[in-house]
Amino acid sequence: MTGQQWIERYQGAVMNTFGDPQRILVKGEGATVWDVDGNRYLDMLGGIAVNSLGHAHPVILEAVTKQLGTLGHISNFFASKPQIELAEKLLELVGHDGRVFFTNSGTEANETAFKATRRTGRTKIVAAEQSFHGRTMGALALTSKAAYREPFEPLPGDVVWVPFGDADALRAVVDDTVAAVILEPIQGEAGVIDAPEGYLAAARDITAEHGVLLWLDEVQTGIGRTGRWFAHTETGVVPDLVTVAKGLGGGIPIGACIALGEAATLLQPGNHGTTFGGNPVASAAALAVIDTIETDGLLDNAVNIGNQIRTGLLDHPAVAAVSGEGLLIGVSLHDDIAKQVQSAALDAGLILNNPTPDRLRLAPPLNLTAEEAQQAIRTLRTVLDEVAAAPKGAA
Ligand SMILES: Cc1ncc(COP(=O)(O)O)c(C=O)c1O
Repeated sequence: MTGQQWIERYQGAVMNTFGDPQRILVKGEGATVWDVDGNRYLDMLGGIAVNSLGHAHPVILEAVTKQLGTLGHISNFFASKPQIELAEKLLELVGHDGRVFFTNSGTEANETAFKATRRTGRTKIVAAEQSFHGRTMGALALTSKAAYREPFEPLPGDVVWVPFGDADALRAVVDDTVAAVILEPIQGEAGVIDAPEGYLAAARDITAEHGVLLWLDEVQTGIGRTGRWFAHTETGVVPDLVTVAKGLGGGIPIGACIALGEAATLLQPGNHGTTFGGNPVASAAALAVIDTIETDGLLDNAVNIGNQIRTGLLDHPAVAAVSGEGLLIGVSLHDDIAKQVQSAALDAGLILNNPTPDRLRLAPPLNLTAEEAQQAIRTLRTVLDEVAAAPKGAA
């Protein structure tokens, strides 16, 4: 059966929320995936910052298989060793005392944090323009894009958005009525937008002054993606809430809401729950991912390979700027040709995406090699040459 035939079956059976799939993928190994028609691709998107160790990594395979063969699932009337070890490990990586609630996704991690903010007795949330926090009703209420929110209103209210990166704008709206400020340290879905130096520290000062929680959404930026365990690591900022997911399980669904200091006790028995969150198999996968990032030196690799890719693309005439840190990479183009570039790159065997009309995003595995990076640079430069040279409006 061909890819086209599978797409027709998809259209008949799978709910149309994503549009048609670009390819039907059947196999992955490392940073390479294959489609059902036998074509091979270099995966420079990594399931959108999820496949931290690439595809079919033996360490994840072993951890999941072993855990599933020992204890696959338990109810939350009980706990498992991997769940406890993972909570301890996340707190160690954040570097502060606290408590962790496990979820299955980023949106649920944010939902958890959102509920925690309500326990402050305040309801108002300040978020950033162009932010993305997920698609459940709560997380959606915080997401700035009106087109995502409006069909589902009324949503949990009392949210205001301020321009991202503008500390003065934040200062102007944060007062003693605000429960929390939620920020992505780097805005991923907006196209990998960096915060100006000192922005998070300013946000911490402003929130602390008014007894407001600082909530960092590190769903996309966390767990080594930026070459640090968290994008806020080394800023000196101690947030109250940190949400993670995506890269944590390396492809096995798991997220976490990490609450630090006094925020750790906002949610009390009966306030929140989940059947699958903190499942032993998902927790074991996450422990294996973190352990491999540590032992294989993947934080450094993310920095080095990320720099190699940025340097390799920056001088292309179609490229206006590069952004992001480590292996969360934004490529801003002079023209609105990101869709054409993404599509031509796919045809040329390179997976990336186009979060906005003039921006490309790359978020490959953290263990991407220098050779693979070079191959990605070469292919992308050729595609940029071709698309930029094509007559305007050509697909
Ligand atoms: C910053 C951020 N928060 C939350 C989410 C939602 O995570 P999920 O798709 O796992 O629900 C995403 C997903 O792209 C994200 O980038």
